[in-house]
Amino acid sequence: MPLGTGLQPPYGRTSSTTRRPKARVPLVSPPEVADRSEQGNRMTTTETMDIKAVVDKAISKIGDIATLPEVTVKIIDIVENPRSTAKDLHEIIKNDPALSAKILKVVNSAFYGLSGKIANMDRAIVLLGLSAVKNIAIAASISHVFKVDKPHPSFSAKDLWRHAVGVGVASRKLAAASGTRGVEELFLAGLIHDLGILVERQAFGDRFMGVVESCTNKRLEWRDAEHRHLGADHQDFGLALGSRWRFPKHLLGAMGYHHNHDALNEKDRNFVSYVRLADMLCCQENIGFSRTCIAEEIPSDLMNECRLTEDQIEQIREMLPEDTAAAEQMLL
Ligand SMILES: [Fe+2]
Ligand SMILES: [Fe+2]
Repeated sequence: MPLGTGLQPPYGRTSSTTRRPKARVPLVSPPEVADRSEQGNRMTTTETMDIKAVVDKAISKIGDIATLPEVTVKIIDIVENPRSTAKDLHEIIKNDPALSAKILKVVNSAFYGLSGKIANMDRAIVLLGLSAVKNIAIAASISHVFKVDKPHPSFSAKDLWRHAVGVGVASRKLAAASGTRGVEELFLAGLIHDLGILVERQAFGDRFMGVVESCTNKRLEWRDAEHRHLGADHQDFGLALGSRWRFPKHLLGAMGYHHNHDALNEKDRNFVSYVRLADMLCCQENIGFSRTCIAEEIPSDLMNECRLTEDQIEQIREMLPEDTAAAEQMLL
């Protein structure tokens, strides 16, 4: 049966919540946007400036999460430098025993299918490659930003962390099932895609709780509630945070466009399409915090874009709770 015919929800039609892209506020190395004219039609210069002002103010207020651990910053610098070698990466990691131990725990987990085979960092870099180890190192060090939460009955950063891990796992598995290269990049992209929500939580306090309550009581869609209460959405805040961290362009695409990946150029759009699909799957399956796209259905054109069949997606969906729990343990 061709994709998109006779499909029952959650497949088969474009979501009613699909929107046109909103203007983003790129600060450093923005992803290329394919259709600027559409954005231009939607956003006036004043509106764009308003979003930029709101986002800049929020980023200036979030001390704890605006700063990546020093070791992570060094790792990003090393891997982004084409002249770097595995030895350079090893030098950085070996000076942080906690991170080294965590990386070895990750690479020896069932997730990588190499159970217990990698005894040291040199071997990890040889077997998995520089880029994979970099992604694992960033993933292993990013969990600290989710530990800034003050408990609240309607929102917990712990739930957002579970969602992030679920989307990371699902993005990686979806990409692997379609034969796409760079599955570790997708794991990291999934893990960080909703970090803008943490920026909101940290910068706006009670106003952020207004977003949560509007979604619960007034049944507003998440991003509509963000715009109403905060003046921008979590993609805007995420893109600004990722830019501040000097993340590469494809990761900025995931942070800033995972609800509107159609706005990106073809290469970035394809990368982010796996995060988009993984996000929808996790929200449908209630993996952790699921408010941002809970009512959305998976359009058949998104499956086509990811070069995946319904059966492949269903297999990944079935394993999601178990896979997420295992990955959460792995990243503890
Ligand atoms: Fe999101
Ligand atoms: Fe999400």
